[in-house]
Amino acid sequence: MLLKIAVGCDHTGIEHLNELKKYLSEVSLEYGIEEVVELNGEDYPEVALSAANAVSSHTTDRAVLICGTGIGMCIAANKVKGIRAAVCNTPELAAISRKHNDSNIIAIGARLITPSLIPQIIEKWLSTDFEGGRHAERLNKISAVEENPLSLKYGKSGERLTIFDHPLIQHKVAMIRNKNTSVKDFRDLIQEITSLMVYEITRYLPTVPIKVETPLAITDAVACEGRSLAIVPIIRAGIGMVEGILQLIPNAKVGHIGLYRDTETLNPIEYYCKLPDDVNEREILILDPMLATGGSAVAGIELIKKHGGQKISFVCIIAAPEGITKVHEEHPDVHIYTATLDSHLNDHGYIVPGLGDAGDRLFGTE
Ligand code: RB5
Repeated sequence: MLLKIAVGCDHTGIEHLNELKKYLSEVSLEYGIEEVVELNGEDYPEVALSAANAVSSHTTDRAVLICGTGIGMCIAANKVKGIRAAVCNTPELAAISRKHNDSNIIAIGARLITPSLIPQIIEKWLSTDFEGGRHAERLNKISAVEENPLSLKYGKSGERLTIFDHPLIQHKVAMIRNKNTSVKDFRDLIQEITSLMVYEITRYLPTVPIKVETPLAITDAVACEGRSLAIVPIIRAGIGMVEGILQLIPNAKVGHIGLYRDTETLNPIEYYCKLPDDVNEREILILDPMLATGGSAVAGIELIKKHGGQKISFVCIIAAPEGITKVHEEHPDVHIYTATLDSHLNDHGYIVPGLGDAGDRLFGTE
């Protein structure tokens, strides 16, 4: 494989950088180095971030960065997704950073080593392969957090959890929490929040290429694939979210699930279920504004799976950690989307601080 390597330094590393460029041009044939790109910047953060961006976006394969210690370059580069930068001021560290960490950037400290050591460090770095195996598993744990920072807090669950931090969504959530918000406003806000969330939730809906005739020409365009989405509110509060989705996706099919809680066992019992015939082919969004204990969510998901549903997401407005854990224990394949995550459940199973009973507030039955 031909390699593109970015190089750069701050004011401390000019002499070392010259040595580095000289060495890379000498060994370019031996290591298949197709191109060495020199990156400039005002200080080490600019140089490191531009190199990291080039590696992360695959414009270049690897980078070697030089500052006083290597530390600043390394810290800055590691802020960028996909970067595994290591300070390597010895040939041994350069080799092990490849073997164990699959380093794609190394940083060198010009104040700590003489320029004459550069060829030995780079030689080890270019000639050593990543060992994979258990080291790859360790790196995967790091990339999982990079992909979804929530996995730090929720482990595996965090990989299938999206919490919306959009200011508009949070603004509207604050309004529905307010006990003085009227039934009409509450209903409108639930719809608006759902619409804003669905814009992101449907980001990966399948599309098909189509041709469109504009007043000027025929052009290529895309359309959402037909039969792609089904929404299934859990009666009754989930109904309040339906219009928010239909306004954007009027052709989505709507199923309904009715569950009530047995007053003795507190288990959810099914009393109604009507789903689209082709539910097995569709992306299914189960709707319920509150994910509290997770009992109804788990029962709803089970019911849909029993009818053949496969690609299921759960969409709520407020979730409690207890509900998220329960859903992911029983259904680790289900992605949970929530506008916000609250602190805990009280002794009656209500989300705190929450907003009270979403069904009552939607339909004025308090
Ligand atoms: C610059 O004086 C120095 O701080 C920088 O080159 C680098 O060592 C930072 O980590």
